[in-house]
Amino acid sequence: MNAGLEDVVAAQTVLSDVDGKNGRLIVRGVSLDDLVATSTYEDVLGLLFDGFFPLSGAMPGALGTARLAVFEHLAAADPALVALPPVDGMRALLARLADGDDLQSALRLVAAPAVFIPALLRLKAGQAALAPDPSLPHAADTLRMLTGAMPTQQQAAALDCYLVTVADHGLNASTFAARVVASTRAGLTSSVLAALSALKGPLHGGAPGPVLDMLDAAASPEQAPAWIAAELARGHRLMGFGHRVYRVRDPRADALKAALRRLASAGAIDPARLALAEAVETAALAQLKAKKPDRPLDTNVEFYTALLLEALGFPRAAFTGVFAMGRVGGWIAHAREQAETGKLIRPSSDYVGPQPQAAA
Ligand code: ACO
Repeated sequence: MNAGLEDVVAAQTVLSDVDGKNGRLIVRGVSLDDLVATSTYEDVLGLLFDGFFPLSGAMPGALGTARLAVFEHLAAADPALVALPPVDGMRALLARLADGDDLQSALRLVAAPAVFIPALLRLKAGQAALAPDPSLPHAADTLRMLTGAMPTQQQAAALDCYLVTVADHGLNASTFAARVVASTRAGLTSSVLAALSALKGPLHGGAPGPVLDMLDAAASPEQAPAWIAAELARGHRLMGFGHRVYRVRDPRADALKAALRRLASAGAIDPARLALAEAVETAALAQLKAKKPDRPLDTNVEFYTALLLEALGFPRAAFTGVFAMGRVGGWIAHAREQAETGKLIRPSSDYVGPQPQAAA
């Protein structure tokens, strides 16, 4: 029995490799550093889908068309759905997309979070949802649908960098959930719904909202060390630190920190917020090291995700949904890869309950 399946290899994949010892991430033969320097999210989607779907036309146009198609489903967003937390409202809308295994189904699922999250946020605020513009790149159109204005080049690049950075990451909990469902041959919508439900939890994709709560509570760079010490003394976990696989710094944290610095130099983020985050990170790393000398606990992707998405205008309640905008590409590629093995995932359990009473 292996609680948490730590170190259990449950799939062979050509999609991504997470090297936890050396802090490296490779997506289909390309290191994360090169990927963020050279690729848009649409490029990464092409990379992930290559061999799993027949890719003929240009990805940006196909994804734009898919955004338009899923926008139609917003007609189902009644007040009760709009009142749900954004990730739950998005899951309910996503469940309306027909299950399928073809490229069109896949692209609609990729488009869905980018259309539904901005729309639900606007509807919640009493504003009309904005229709997609299929001629725009995916990240730029997402921000336009959120704010109603064209984003700056730096803002669009920052969201694109985020989507690229989180597009795929080995056999994490949500990707595993997607593969389990795909192994039953249920269809891509079912796989994505399972993955999204797994992503929502605070130990996985639900951490960045609480990261901002932590920054708010830490209040200032001067007060940060004492606040962190008190949190750890209470046995609380520091959100945005620690990882199941990385025993060094998560390389995605550095990719996002660099994107944040670029936003800062364009004046698109409050330098005081960045300074507070850096002070919290420094104090957290020092105190985690002192408290757990045998368990390396370093910064993970969620820490700088929180600041980046905040700077781009997403409210913290929507952060998990924005994570899904990027990771959905990875989920779908993994679901196809798993389905192609033809093997049902069905592990065993060790029964430790009572045995039936012998008849008297
Ligand atoms: N703060 C304080 N202590 C921590 C933290 C943390 N962030 N992370 C782990 N620890 C401690 C645990 O309390 C545990 O201590 P113990 O042995 O005294 O009980 C020890 O380190 C090992 O922790 P595990 O939970 O066994 O490690 P695991 O690999 O299962 O957990 C996880 C990884 C869930 C990410 C964990 O580090 C955590 O809860 N981090 C905070 C939440 C977070 O940032 N999640 C996002 C992860 S990235 C992603 O999913 C995209």
